[in-house]
Amino acid sequence: MSTVKPCYVLGLESSADDTAAAIVEIHSRRILGQAIRTQMAEHAAYGGIVPELASRAHQAHLPALVQEAFSQAGLSMADIHAVAATTGPGLTTALAMGATFGKTLAVARNLPFLATNHIEGHALSPLLAESTPLAEAFLERHEPYLLLLITGGHTQLIAVRDVGAYELLGTTADDAVGECFDKIGAALNLPHPSGPNLAKLAPQGNPQALALPSPKGATAFDFSFSGLKTAARQAVEKGSTSPADVAASLEHTIATLLADKLGKALAHTGITHAVAAGGVAANTTIRAALQQACTQSGCSFTAPPLALCTDNAAMIAYAGGLRWQKGLPVGEGLAAPLFPRWPLSDMNSVR
Ligand code: KG4
Ligand code: ZN
Repeated sequence: MSTVKPCYVLGLESSADDTAAAIVEIHSRRILGQAIRTQMAEHAAYGGIVPELASRAHQAHLPALVQEAFSQAGLSMADIHAVAATTGPGLTTALAMGATFGKTLAVARNLPFLATNHIEGHALSPLLAESTPLAEAFLERHEPYLLLLITGGHTQLIAVRDVGAYELLGTTADDAVGECFDKIGAALNLPHPSGPNLAKLAPQGNPQALALPSPKGATAFDFSFSGLKTAARQAVEKGSTSPADVAASLEHTIATLLADKLGKALAHTGITHAVAAGGVAANTTIRAALQQACTQSGCSFTAPPLALCTDNAAMIAYAGGLRWQKGLPVGEGLAAPLFPRWPLSDMNSVR
């Protein structure tokens, strides 16, 4: 039995259109309570996120979500050791709601405020399952993992060598993969959020129906999606391919491309654990293709449970809490600024 005292962190997420609160015990990596509210209804009529509406909704719903997380956990503010909130990257007016709420709670209880990077949250999210072979390999045996970060804003291959030691191997030259799903979903007139709705339509189509380009990117590990997006959009405009066939073909092309790059990066680095994180990692076709590439490379593959792939506050509580417990820099407390852009490499500690 471990004699380590529990470390309860309250996490808040408000960087885009999901408002979330969660309580995580850092040493056991257990999520004790979490509540999330998506703002699909608020933004549906506009076909995208309206920053002012997002920030109003965050402000309106954060208090009840925090209360819900506490009631699930059977804890109160008196039990919390630190408050973490996303301070970037994201929409400034949206970030301000979670960060200000978090700072207020921290100041009221005289607790540390952990200014947390949203991308680092995604990067460390696969460790959050209570007992995963990955967590043991990384946290106990100090084995690195290769992270494929696939979100609405990022498509990156990152070697996670340690907490606070991230090496960028490849990135997208243009659109992020999630953006590609969203734009083609919108061109197909699918309702917002069009990316996940495109994924729902795809199983009804033929993945071989439409031959789409597979852009190579500038280097072996870089990505490029704008040509693929344009080709898919032109097919939609032409109207000779059914929406389900476009969806299936796009999903298949992207899954093959991501799996190919991941396999090559595993071979190049000699890293034996791979992880997919971010909203697009919720896509089951992509997960299956990545799993297959890893099996072929003799490597393990981990993707967080679906609810932890998309934006959530548990990953924020965990990333902030883990950095804090390891003595790594965690922002500037109550003076922590908000960063609309905040690359993961900024979280690297000089060793
Ligand atoms: O990580 P995330 O929740 O937010 C950030 O961008 O940080 O990712 C959102 C992205 C959106 O582009 C959304 O369309 C995409 O993830 N996404 C999906 C699926 N679920 C979410 N894309 C393809 N298939 C899905 N099942
Ligand atoms: Zn995200």
